[in-house]
Amino acid sequence: MSAIDFSRRATTPELMDTEDCDFATFRGCLVDLARVNRLTLAYRSTIAYLDRLERSARLPKGRALEIIDVGSGYGDMLRRVAAWAARRNIQVQLTGIDLNPWSAEAAREATPVEVPVVWRTMDVFDFRPDTRPDLVISSLFTHHLDDAALVRFLVWMEETASIGWFVNDLHRHELPYRVFATASRAMRAHRFVQNDGPISITRSFVAEDWRALLTAARIPAKGTRVDWWMPFRLCVSRVREL
Ligand SMILES: C[S@@+](CC[C@H](N)C(=O)[O-])C[C@H]1O[C@@H](n2cnc3c(N)ncnc32)[C@H](O)[C@@H]1O
Repeated sequence: MSAIDFSRRATTPELMDTEDCDFATFRGCLVDLARVNRLTLAYRSTIAYLDRLERSARLPKGRALEIIDVGSGYGDMLRRVAAWAARRNIQVQLTGIDLNPWSAEAAREATPVEVPVVWRTMDVFDFRPDTRPDLVISSLFTHHLDDAALVRFLVWMEETASIGWFVNDLHRHELPYRVFATASRAMRAHRFVQNDGPISITRSFVAEDWRALLTAARIPAKGTRVDWWMPFRLCVSRVREL
């Protein structure tokens, strides 16, 4: 029997948020996290959300689509979004926001200069754009927040994004916890990833958590969806009514 209580979100801190480390260490963690993202098909749900908006003609015409990625880390999600947009001839203006200054440095280093992206170092709650971006996205970010901060983040996204927002995070469940703990050791992942991966799963969500958080943030039910994605991702999408 597991000693971990999967019935509620854990509060165990992650090394990534608490250990003061040098650039090489943090960059190594982000590189391995991007490897995990590729292996676990982490980009699919976010790209499917963008496809859905494109199919329903919700993307702006005659100007660049503005997207903010919160907790952008190594920037691999925004590079995927840029590739998606390039394939469809969609003009984009991308911004990655991350609290840790090493993230912007690592993301900048990994991003070709022609990708239309700006990397900024700041707490998301201090970000007050002059004009509202079309979309706010995040991946593996929301589980870093406690419930009170999450409600604040939902309200912030609702006020900030003019078209909608997309949260891509993990489903709290014992199976991925066990599999990830074993697999990350077997693939000799960075020590932060080996430690924080299973903790992230215990800090993450079940669908009922999201329903309660959405209600607390007074997010309208119409246009809001909670969807499970293989393997063990739980995503919340919002498209504002026209
Ligand atoms: C697990 S990483 C996810 C990185 C990337 N999105 C991915 O999917 O691989 C979470 C990131 O959120 C950032 N972060 C945590 N709290 C934040 C805050 N309040 N504002 C902005 N970024 C934050 C951390 O510095 C970290 O880079």
